[in-house]
Amino acid sequence: MKHLIDPMDLSVEEIDQLLELADDIILHKEKYQEVCKHKKLATLFFEPSTRTRLSFEAAMMELGGNVLGFSSADSSSAAKGETVSDTVRVVAGYADIIAMRHPKEGAPYVASRKVDVPIINAGDGGHNHPTQTLTDLMTIKREKGRLDNLTIGMCGDLKFGRTVHSLIKAMSRYENVTFVMISPEELRLPEYIIKDVFERNNITYKEVRTMEEVMPELDILYMTRVQKERFFNEADYVRLKDSFILDEKKMETAKEDLCIMHPLPRVNEISTKVDDDPRACYFKQALYGKYVRMALIMTMLGVSADEN
Ligand code: CP
Repeated sequence: MKHLIDPMDLSVEEIDQLLELADDIILHKEKYQEVCKHKKLATLFFEPSTRTRLSFEAAMMELGGNVLGFSSADSSSAAKGETVSDTVRVVAGYADIIAMRHPKEGAPYVASRKVDVPIINAGDGGHNHPTQTLTDLMTIKREKGRLDNLTIGMCGDLKFGRTVHSLIKAMSRYENVTFVMISPEELRLPEYIIKDVFERNNITYKEVRTMEEVMPELDILYMTRVQKERFFNEADYVRLKDSFILDEKKMETAKEDLCIMHPLPRVNEISTKVDDDPRACYFKQALYGKYVRMALIMTMLGVSADEN
């Protein structure tokens, strides 16, 4: 793996290895605290982020490495009209590995064609978010003990939600996973994912318009925010933003061992009253993101604890 642009760039075996390494990092943090000494990670974020950027930076620091970068297009020379290609060519001379977020679909792929240092897609428009997918897979594996034989409900903005698109692709490779897509008509999953992933692979799925009708079936409920920044029209966003709100009442019919996930940030779609429910996994999920990114940085840089 030279670059990570799409979740399908990783084989199932590579994902297993990353999740195993992340588990070992949690158990033996001291073993890993210098593995990236003298290495540098650049975080080039042309779009806002809290978790992805800061967990990448924390991950590199906990591996003994250094970080540099910018957190918005406005604070980089993109504001003066510099292209993504020129930016990464320059930064490749300053860093050993680059994590990049960009509002345009495909921008990290274009960047990866220009440089030899590994590029990680940290989210490109409404397209993919492969390191969130690794975070989600790690959460499912640790909380449910498996990645197969699951019914997973995905709720909210399934049209623009890149975390949903990436997780569907990744989960489609495991046995007996059933998908339940819960969204308003206007925010339903893009047709190309239904055709290319569900239909092509004979995967069981259904689309519904209410949470109540499917809550008792779900092993995992993956909530998402309606993404204001992807709407062309403010009135449509206002009309759709509160389509689904998970609250204590809806939790009454859910399984005892339901795992509630959310890539975060949350706006209104999960009541804060659900946060203390033991089935709420979203803050743990954000923490797992740091450990799996540590595993990813190590793997992409080709370093291991055994060499130290
Ligand atoms: N989950 C996620 O991508 O969060 P941020 O936008 O805060 O990075």
